Amino acid sequence: MSKVTVVGAGNVGATCANVLVSTQAADEVVLLDIKEGVSEGKAMDIMQAANILGLNSRLVGVTNDYARTENSDVVVITSGIPRKPGMTREELIGVNAGIVRSVTENVLKHSPNAVIVCVSNPMDTMTYLIHKVTKLPRNRIIGMGGALDSARFRYFLSVALGANINEVEGIVIGGHGDTTMIPLKRYAAYRGIPASSILDADTLDKVAADTMVGGATLTKLLGTSAWYAPGAAAAQVVGAVLGDRKQLISCSALLEGEYGEKDLCIGVPCILGKNGIEKIVEFDLNEEEKALFAASAAAVHKTNSALA
Ligand code: LAC
Repeated sequence: MSKVTVVGAGNVGATCANVLVSTQAADEVVLLDIKEGVSEGKAMDIMQAANILGLNSRLVGVTNDYARTENSDVVVITSGIPRKPGMTREELIGVNAGIVRSVTENVLKHSPNAVIVCVSNPMDTMTYLIHKVTKLPRNRIIGMGGALDSARFRYFLSVALGANINEVEGIVIGGHGDTTMIPLKRYAAYRGIPASSILDADTLDKVAADTMVGGATLTKLLGTSAWYAPGAAAAQVVGAVLGDRKQLISCSALLEGEYGEKDLCIGVPCILGKNGIEKIVEFDLNEEEKALFAASAAAVHKTNSALA
């Protein structure tokens, strides 16, 4: 029996639950929110769609009833406020830190062995906060940002290349921030052929720049933060853990010397399996990429320093 709890039935949490149901990733999914009735309503709606789609998934919605989340294998934390147009993710720290701290304490009371997937922003700092609050082994706390940023990178690559979206490769490391993420242009590829040998440098630079502000662009278009890809990215991380897939996904992990950094959570390539982050893979970065990573880490450290 596999069980997943998604905390927060806003757009991202509900989309994550919907993707978990659609992919039949878990035997049972619980969607929890503090707002009376919202998670129940969204769960009902999603399950009625599941009937139409012929899916035998189980999803229930509960209002703040953490007892119903007990013995979850994975808990996804999406709680907190999203950013509005013009805001940075970092500006959310004051409000979201208190929410994420109390949600984390509540979920662990009922699921002491769960792997935690952090979605709340500023995502790297919230992932770090969960480490500080729980002192869990680092494999059990995963920040989902890199999974999302990498999907955005591959989207913009596919558009520039005129390629099918799943025929391109690309990975983003570093912080989940408009100026801190690092799309690894050198490793971007179209069916194994380096994208740099097909696209001119300016086009590839624009793909990377569009990726970095991908979240801000959507926030401007939508009036609030995006949800389809963020929810799907969180569900992708959950699926890799529950399915023990040993899948390489960029995630925010607590570093202990990898990439020359420690005492922060930041996006790095991770192998995900049933134990959560089973391995951090150290790519061979060139001098320019190393400098970008160091600058990104410094910015994430600075945001972390605002944690009370
Ligand atoms: C985004 C938010 C979820 O990048 O951080 O869309």
